[in-house]
Amino acid sequence: MIKACVIGWPISQSRSPLIHGYWLRKYGIDGSYTRQPVEPAELAAFIAGLASSGYAGCNVTIPHKEAVFEMVARADDTTQRIGAVNTVYVRDRKIFGTNTDGEGFLNNLRSAAPRLTLANGRAVVLGAGGASLAVVNALLEHGVAEVAVANRTADKTEQLRRRFGSRVTAIGWTEASDHLGDCSLLVNTTSLGMKGQPDLTIDLSRLSGTAVVTDIVYTPLRTKLLADAAARGNQVVEGLGMLLHQAVRGFSLWFGVTPRVTEELHDLVARDIDPEFRR
Ligand SMILES: NC(=O)c1ccc[n+]([C@@H]2O[C@H](COP(=O)([O-])OP(=O)(O)OC[C@H]3O[C@@H](n4cnc5c(N)ncnc54)[C@H](OP(=O)(O)O)[C@@H]3O)[C@@H](O)[C@H]2O)c1
Repeated sequence: MIKACVIGWPISQSRSPLIHGYWLRKYGIDGSYTRQPVEPAELAAFIAGLASSGYAGCNVTIPHKEAVFEMVARADDTTQRIGAVNTVYVRDRKIFGTNTDGEGFLNNLRSAAPRLTLANGRAVVLGAGGASLAVVNALLEHGVAEVAVANRTADKTEQLRRRFGSRVTAIGWTEASDHLGDCSLLVNTTSLGMKGQPDLTIDLSRLSGTAVVTDIVYTPLRTKLLADAAARGNQVVEGLGMLLHQAVRGFSLWFGVTPRVTEELHDLVARDIDPEFRR
C-alpha cells in the first residue's frame, strides 16, 4: 500500500484527505492519505524519517512551508524562487520538495475563465504573504507584464519586489483601488474574507467590466469580494478550484496516476465547506 499524508500544526482543518481519498477510490489505488499533526519541534525528524516511515511523500501546510523548503535535498527552480514547499516526495530515499500552489492558481483560472488572456496584461494582487509568493511567481512565469502588489505591511511588498524584480510594483494598501483601472485580473491572497476574519472591503468602481476577479480564500466558497464583483458584472473565480488543482501533481508523484479535477470532486468538497451548496 502506498502511503501519503498532510502535515501541519494544527491540521484538523485540512480538506486534502477528502480530495486525495476521493481520487484513491476513483482510480482504485491501494493507498492511504492521512492527516498528521506535526509540531514545529518535531518537523525536522518527521521529514528526515519520511521514507523509513513508509511514506511516498506528503503535503505541507501552515506553518511549515518555509521550514520544509530548508530541509529538502532538492527543490526545482520555481520552488526556489518561492522559497516554500507544499509537496514533498521521496525518490531513491532522497527527499524532494516542490510547490504546486502556483499551477493550482493558474489551472483554476484557465478552467474557470478560459478567455482571460494574462500575457502582457496587468494584474493587481492584494496580500504579500506565503500564498502571494506562489501567485505572483505564477503570474510572472505566465508572462504578465506587471503585477502590482498591495499589502497592509509595506515591508513585505518591498521584499516581494526585490525577490521578483521590476515587473512587480509595490502599491500602498489604502490606494489599491486607485490602481484597478487598467488591470485584467484582481486577486485577493490575504486572509481577509475568510470565515472568522473581517471582510475585504475595496472600492471596485474603477475596475473594467472585462476584468476577472479571483479570491484564493475558499471558506466561504463565495467571499464578499467575489459577491461584490459579480454584482457589478465582473467574471469571478472562486478559490476552491485552486485547492483542487494544486493537489493534482502531488497525487501523481506519490500514486503514479494524474487525477482529474471534476465537477463531482468540486461538489463533494464544496458541500463539506457549505452543506447548503447547490450547483
Ligand atoms: N485556495 C488555495 O488553494 C489556497 C492556498 C493557499 C492559501 N490559501 C488561503 O490564502 C490565505 C492567505 O494564506 P497565506 O498562507 O498567504 O497566509 P499568510 O502568509 O499568513 O499571509 C496572510 C496575508 O493576509 C494579510 N492580512 C491578514 N490579516 C489582515 C488584515 N486584517 N488586514 C489586511 N491584511 C491582512 C497579511 O498582511 P500582513 O503581511 O500585513 O500581515 C498577508 O498579506 C488564507 O486564507 C489561506 O487559507 C488558499
